[in-house]
Amino acid sequence: MNKIIKKIILILLITAAVSVVSIYAYRIVSNQNIESKQSAESEIDALTFYHWWTSPGESAAINALIDVFIKKYPDTAVMPTPVTGGGGFSMLGIIKPLVNAGEAPDAFQMHAAYESKPYYDAGLLKQIDDIWESEDLESVIPKIVQDMNKFEGHYYSVPIDIHRSNLVWYNKLLLSQNNINPDNLTTWDLFFNACETLKASGVEYPIQMGESWTASHVFEQIVASMGIDFYEDWVNGKITSLDNPKLLEALRIFNKYLSYVNSDYSELSWNSATARVIEGESAFNIMGDWANGEFKAAKKIYGVDYGVFAVPGTENMYGLVIDTFQHPKGIKHPVNAQRWLKNAASKEGQDAFNPLKGSISARTDSDISKYDAYQQFATSDFLAVRYMFPSVVHGSGAPESFKLNLNDIIVQFLDNRDDEEFISSMTRYIQSISSEYTINWSLN
Ligand code: BGC
Repeated sequence: MNKIIKKIILILLITAAVSVVSIYAYRIVSNQNIESKQSAESEIDALTFYHWWTSPGESAAINALIDVFIKKYPDTAVMPTPVTGGGGFSMLGIIKPLVNAGEAPDAFQMHAAYESKPYYDAGLLKQIDDIWESEDLESVIPKIVQDMNKFEGHYYSVPIDIHRSNLVWYNKLLLSQNNINPDNLTTWDLFFNACETLKASGVEYPIQMGESWTASHVFEQIVASMGIDFYEDWVNGKITSLDNPKLLEALRIFNKYLSYVNSDYSELSWNSATARVIEGESAFNIMGDWANGEFKAAKKIYGVDYGVFAVPGTENMYGLVIDTFQHPKGIKHPVNAQRWLKNAASKEGQDAFNPLKGSISARTDSDISKYDAYQQFATSDFLAVRYMFPSVVHGSGAPESFKLNLNDIIVQFLDNRDDEEFISSMTRYIQSISSEYTINWSLN
């Protein structure tokens, strides 16, 4: 074969290989060049959506949900855009300008209730009562979750999971080596005593914490531990006094808590903090049960390698974090968007996603045999607990501007540890947005 023919064959082979790889990437997890593809998308059978599930456990879960969809619609090019950054703080900052500019993907991850309100108010969401009806979702989704997906009596989103926020994850070996019985850690004092014991035996940081929002997450659980009435007032925008004793006590506990956490938290992702507990470097991590997904992805067994207990003082409470998808208006692939929502809300979809995600299904008819021992306990505890409380940090409980402002105030506080400034900034801000509190939570 002469040189020129050889060269042509080589070019053809490379082109074919590149095409195969591109088709695969485009088909499953393409997350780039969305904008440049948008003109073509309107002509193809495609589905675009954004999410922030990028840790090992989270990625496994969303891929499982995509697989269920692909099995039903093998010809559709599924093009998710994963945006790194737990809690959605990065992704929601990117998506909002896109949606406002009429460039919404076919769906995007969002928390139930307040977080979607700005989009609803701006008329950017399609009402989806028809999906709830055709899939008979009201018969399987708990009432409290139904309500969190509605505005003015109509549905605008479907839930994909029910996460619990008020949990302390622990490394079982480290606790047993230090004769600490996690069942006894039911008050903050007992919990801090356990931290002292760990420190005395050489565990430099008994608790692991990550970047800013994870500190806000901790603060929120401490607020819940002050009792449901106080939490209810907090989410209803009624904690406005500078000398509220429960607020001062919550801050005292937060300060004490911070004295046991790793010093490099500000550079640490939530899942890297959890990973240090998985590896036994530290004993505790306050985090929602998406942390369960990390233990599972690391092949750890609940009850053998790790365990969990309710944040002290919140035993009878279930902190609600609910991820949803919705149907923005003016999208390129409305038929596929509708299919995606139905898939996310389906029993099959939820039973593929949640066992890996660490959460429980948002449906009461889930196949419980697919879930681990923690999730089986959580499923029954969801029905047994006395109080449910919506998370502020995870979008549902309070106006979005408060969630964002709280995070800024906490970052500032981590920096200067100025109690007075913290209290006055928070209470002043709550007062300044009183008209934004449009949901009147009744949690008691
Ligand atoms: C979401 C979870 C997610 C977690 C960490 C929360 O706000 O609701 O689904 O796993 O953030 O990224």
